[in-house]
Amino acid sequence: MSSILVVHGSPRGERSHSRRLTEAFITAWQAANPQSLPTRREVGRTVMPAVNEAFIAAAFYPEPQARPLTMQADLALSDSLVAELKAHDRLVISAPMHNFGVPSGVKAWIDQIVRIGLTFNHSLDNGVSQYEPLVLGKKALIVTSRGDFGFGPGGPLEAMNHADTWLRTVLGFIGINDVTVVAAEGEESTEHSFARSCAEAEQRLLALARTF
Ligand SMILES: Cc1cc2nc3c(=O)[nH]c(=O)nc-3n(C[C@H](O)[C@H](O)[C@H](O)COP(=O)(O)O)c2cc1C
Repeated sequence: MSSILVVHGSPRGERSHSRRLTEAFITAWQAANPQSLPTRREVGRTVMPAVNEAFIAAAFYPEPQARPLTMQADLALSDSLVAELKAHDRLVISAPMHNFGVPSGVKAWIDQIVRIGLTFNHSLDNGVSQYEPLVLGKKALIVTSRGDFGFGPGGPLEAMNHADTWLRTVLGFIGINDVTVVAAEGEESTEHSFARSCAEAEQRLLALARTF
């Protein structure tokens, strides 16, 4: 039985297109997986703390087993978010494009879950960094909405896309390499039909829900 974690990153609620498309996918996924209840993690409409100096000192403490209690407290949220991620075998990230990247809540969530010793390991081989991903056997789906048009592979704005492309990189770094991206484009464009792009994205999502 699959379990699914949905990370919602849009600051918008009912007006959010990425949120609406993601929820359409989840409804269809639940129909195909009636035994499973999705877990939703809201990072767009709540404050996800940014990494600070205390977090860094605690996360990179040289003897993790002997971390002082105060440092353990500094990592408590991160520990629980990592545990939540690991407890599910499917991950959906719903993230509009903001300033060519992801919304700050999504970035903050990623910074909380990329943890040395928990989601990746690092070692030196003759002075050369070796990285070992620790989050294995998962599939991810990124659902995004963009104001302009052409950020996908081969599109005229592809080089300016640091949103889903960056998510792919960082998810791969921790071991999630099976990543599908579904995008609706052109909310702010007059040359392209955003309604048509949303409808195409929704069709792709409904088809994907049967096999994801
Ligand atoms: C702060 C902010 C920054 C944005 N930056 C971009 C951008 O860099 N490129 C783009 O194509 N659209 C940009 N947009 C437009 C959104 O990506 C677009 O409206 C999207 O459909 C919003 O998704 P949502 O409805 O799920 O919130 C931006 C919107 C906001 C609010």
